[in-house]
Amino acid sequence: MGPIDIARVLRDLVQLVEPRITGGESQIHIELSLQPLPEVRGNPNKLTEAFLNILLNAMDAMPQGGTLRISAVERSGEIRIAVRDSGKGMAREELARAFDPFFTTKPGGTGLGLSTVYRVVRAHGGSVFLDSEPGKGTSVFVSLPIASPVEEKQPGPAGRPSRGEHSVLVVDDHPAVREATAELLGGQGYVVETAATVADALAAIERRPFAAVVTDVGLPDRAGWEVVRAAKQRSRQTLVVLVSGWGSHFSPEDVRARGVDLVLVKPVDPDELLSAIDRGVRSSTAA
Ligand SMILES: Nc1ncnc2c1ncn2[C@@H]1O[C@H](COP(=O)(O)OP(=O)(O)O)[C@@H](O)[C@H]1O
Ligand SMILES: [Mg+2]
Repeated sequence: MGPIDIARVLRDLVQLVEPRITGGESQIHIELSLQPLPEVRGNPNKLTEAFLNILLNAMDAMPQGGTLRISAVERSGEIRIAVRDSGKGMAREELARAFDPFFTTKPGGTGLGLSTVYRVVRAHGGSVFLDSEPGKGTSVFVSLPIASPVEEKQPGPAGRPSRGEHSVLVVDDHPAVREATAELLGGQGYVVETAATVADALAAIERRPFAAVVTDVGLPDRAGWEVVRAAKQRSRQTLVVLVSGWGSHFSPEDVRARGVDLVLVKPVDPDELLSAIDRGVRSSTAA
């Protein structure tokens, strides 16, 4: 376990995959945006293998070409890496199973890429989650704790018990809000699923109960209340957080009667959201 420069790992990997991209007929445009980053501690070969798997998947998803955006920033004691492709994206069922060992949709695929990513990232005390829209592309977010002994005076994300066993559904039609919320919770070790519509959210809730559901009220297809109702019907123990741009229009009694545990008004304070979910999830036994 030595100090690792993640920016360097990513740059080297891009060099490694570049011939495969420029050699073919299809053009993949790569945008690399790496801030100067503090080091992480760990196994460079394992981390390289993990990011290689992510890059190869992105390229597999763009057989006709596209854009691959790789970024890494430092935030809240972590390095947050995002790999976004403009490829075929994943259907909900695919997204739900993507980390499963041996799950593959590719002829000749092993289905071991993302399960390796998950294992390696978790072994480094980090977290990983996916956001994907069929036909639009996929984003893979990886957070890794920074290798600073000073950081360890407080338990880091990896040290906090059992968040990783808790799943949270984030429902918002704005990609930026959805991603930021998912990144916040995923970065703290929750297993995060996202949905952009009520229909997608209902499908996700049908597949499994969530420890917490964070939903916007105004969604494109139907009202966010339907997500609230479905979540509570699936499991009464699910903590339902409603995020609203016009919170003052709802009376507390009305909101409670509809099954909402907590209303947060946009722009949501990340600390408030996180501590609410921590509290709610700790007192529940849902998934
Ligand atoms: N960037 C991506 N875009 C679209 N689908 C993806 C992406 N990454 C992973 N997947 C889906 O997840 C599945 C599992 O990926 P992985 O574990 O790497 O195995 P494999 O690449 O061998 O299929 C893939 O078969 C594919 O369906
Ligand atoms: Mg793969």
